[in-house]
Amino acid sequence: MNSGITELKQQFAQTFGEGGKIHVIRAPGRVNLIGEHTDYNDGFVFPMAIEPHVLIACRTRDDSSVRFASSVFPGQIATFQIDKPIPRGEPKWANYSKGVAAELIAAGIPLPGMDAIITSTLPVGGGLSSSAAIEVATAQCFLTLAGLKMEPNRIALICQRAEHEYAGVPVGIMDQMIVASAKPNCAMLLDCRDLSKQFVELDERELRVVIVNSMVKHELSSSEYAVRRKQCEEGVEFFKKENPNIKALRDVSVKQVEAAKDKLDEVIYRRCRHVVTENRRTTEAAQLLGKNQYEQVGQLMVQSHNSLRDDYEVSVPELDFLVEESMKIKGVYGARMTGGGFGGCIVALAQPRAVEALTSHLMSEYEKKWQKKPMIFPTTAAAGVTVLE
Ligand code: GLA
Repeated sequence: MNSGITELKQQFAQTFGEGGKIHVIRAPGRVNLIGEHTDYNDGFVFPMAIEPHVLIACRTRDDSSVRFASSVFPGQIATFQIDKPIPRGEPKWANYSKGVAAELIAAGIPLPGMDAIITSTLPVGGGLSSSAAIEVATAQCFLTLAGLKMEPNRIALICQRAEHEYAGVPVGIMDQMIVASAKPNCAMLLDCRDLSKQFVELDERELRVVIVNSMVKHELSSSEYAVRRKQCEEGVEFFKKENPNIKALRDVSVKQVEAAKDKLDEVIYRRCRHVVTENRRTTEAAQLLGKNQYEQVGQLMVQSHNSLRDDYEVSVPELDFLVEESMKIKGVYGARMTGGGFGGCIVALAQPRAVEALTSHLMSEYEKKWQKKPMIFPTTAAAGVTVLE
């Protein structure tokens, strides 16, 4: 970690010149233990921050220019002015940071000029929220240089708007909230309606969280995410006619969905069934994890995966395969796809002593079946965005 910081500061000096106070900000990626495609339905999610992260080194300027460089794309520098409209465009990786600058300004925050360089240990397109990490880290850079403090919830909402406006993806609030508010060693049950949080400690002695990247790149902005959101809205329109107090699928019970089976379009029915049952699984899993009932948590994770595969239809065969194979290993409590879907990662919950067997089994079986190597790593629950220097 320290060498990463030293190297980044060296790259900063090479790109922008020596001198001045350089701040270093770290923002983690995230993995969601359970509660998928529930956040934009005012529901519940249960993510935690992970060890891979984004680092940004930054320094204030005494004019109104902002320059962003990236260690991943050497030679590319995105430049814009904080006192002029900020256009999105090329290079694409800078749009998340541009969006955050624009939304901070729109929120009335006085921004300083800044030079910044970004680096990341998060796989891009791996579904571990590298974009939310860049957004929240960028916001923290501007705030640190401006000498300002901001509530994590407000940072998250500003970053979510940036993603909507500058990346064109209508994401929910989960990723930005966990990146901005995570606590070490804890998963966070988030109520996406009022943004209240409950932290549940993970016992390192009894439990490992293992992430397996299928290496199938997900395309979140591919129309499917927006299609799912629309289908949920269609569901809400139906239930609203029955009860005008219903504002989101969060307000609908499993019983109500079952009763509507013959009246709803078959696809909309299945989408609603996923969201409504997933909300219930998520609050249950958080409670059970708090009581160290890992077997039951694991069962809920597998049910969640099956529901995402069959009812919500956001899984892919590679993810299904990884979940099935994980569950063959003794000491693995549960596994499921995590994030938006259509590729990316699965997350498994396992006894510490099962990690080795799980890793070697998946390594060999996955490559045999799909002719590519998965990336597998256990992680502890990391802290949210942090000013390191
Ligand atoms: C993506 C979005 C989140 C959430 C998940 C699915 O990660 O950014 O807001 O909707 O998909 O749970």
